Amino acid sequence: MFVTFEGIDGSGKSTQARLLVEHLRATGSEVVSTREPGGTPLGEGIRQLLLAGDRVGNWAEAALFAAARAQLVEDIVRPALARGEWVVCDRFIDSSLAYQGLARGLGLEAVLRLSPPSLDGLWPARTLLLELPSRVAAARLAETSPDRIERVGGGFIESVAAGYAQLAERHPERIVRLDATLPADELAAAVRGKLGLGERT
Ligand code: TYD
Repeated sequence: MFVTFEGIDGSGKSTQARLLVEHLRATGSEVVSTREPGGTPLGEGIRQLLLAGDRVGNWAEAALFAAARAQLVEDIVRPALARGEWVVCDRFIDSSLAYQGLARGLGLEAVLRLSPPSLDGLWPARTLLLELPSRVAAARLAETSPDRIERVGGGFIESVAAGYAQLAERHPERIVRLDATLPADELAAAVRGKLGLGERT
């Protein structure tokens, strides 16, 4: 099963992805855990380019994310799914749709057109969208050093959050909205419930 985590920076995706992977492994499942941008040597190189301080235009940014994703899909995601394993990915195509397509204003169609053919039909079975007010996320991020995209300011993160909400409305069968202000253990239980792994639904 292919599961992705999405949300604005500071929403706790990485923690929740880790907790889910730990739970799956503890209960005997084979899991491939990965992240975007990154997840392959090429993808990690692209990640450095994208998140460093240098100027990256909006189209270049979208194309680089798409290239990192193409490599991840070919090398990691498709082979793992073919082996019947779980794939848990911290960010995937919805990040490009929300950040580049909606918040940067490139448009959803344009971002999908940039996606490589190898992505065709490879939508996550479930996408856990961790939602929290942007001021709470900002307070959490104040304790870390922001990357180039996080530094944009000027309402950008609010636009990303609104973009995600719009995507969730378009794809209610796939995207599950969760309250990321919950304590991490409660949120992790809610995630497991949404994936049919017991506890709450
Ligand atoms: P990430 O490392 O997940 O940041 P964090 O752990 O702080 O959430 O992602 C890095 C940044 O890249 C983040 O600001 C979101 C952005 N991003 C996009 O703009 N488009 C994309 O397609 C992806 C995958 C990430």
